[in-house]
Amino acid sequence: MSHLQALRLMPAQQLEVHGKRFRLFLPRHEIARCVRHLAERIQADYAGKELTCVVVLKGAFIFAADLLRELSLPCRVEMVRAQSYGMQMHSSGTIHLEPAQLDLRNRHVLVIEDIVDTGLTLQALVAQLHAQHPASLHIVALLAKPPAQTLSVPLTYVGKHIPPVFVIGYGMDYAEAGRTLPDIYAVDEHLS
Ligand code: IMP
Repeated sequence: MSHLQALRLMPAQQLEVHGKRFRLFLPRHEIARCVRHLAERIQADYAGKELTCVVVLKGAFIFAADLLRELSLPCRVEMVRAQSYGMQMHSSGTIHLEPAQLDLRNRHVLVIEDIVDTGLTLQALVAQLHAQHPASLHIVALLAKPPAQTLSVPLTYVGKHIPPVFVIGYGMDYAEAGRTLPDIYAVDEHLS
């Protein structure tokens, strides 16, 4: 199935993606407000420091682009690739990260993640990044689902805590569909 066939616009702010119904969850102006608020906190906390931002691909690329442009701090940007859910809506538990090595020694590292669910992705990532001896390591996530609160990783900045729903848009996908939507949509289990 092509990407265009996978996504169908419906009336009343709904979408159908790979046969599942999604409804509008976070409109773009609310996302922008969240991003500005996160940027203000990060700006204040890192004043006078140089940041090294590690963007978790693919999902965080749009969030990172917006967040980084709100920051007026000296900032290096690195990208890492983490395995996505593929056709599933739940974490697979297997995570492959690349590249394995970044130049992080003595740097103030801020990991930029789109959404945290089980936290498996972040736990694996944080373990690898810590091994590279950064001066500090924190995480900013646009969205976090309930399991994220029990994590042992430094989830310092969260844009919005959300219920355990599957969302797409603003970088997040369902089997590669929906990633470029400017608003965030949540699956509607009753309609799917
Ligand atoms: P975790 O390892 O379960 O915390 O999942 C983290 C990764 O899974 C995120 O970086 C996303 O790529 C993906 N993910 C988790 N929840 C969702 C969702 O609701 N929609 C789309 N992707 C998600």
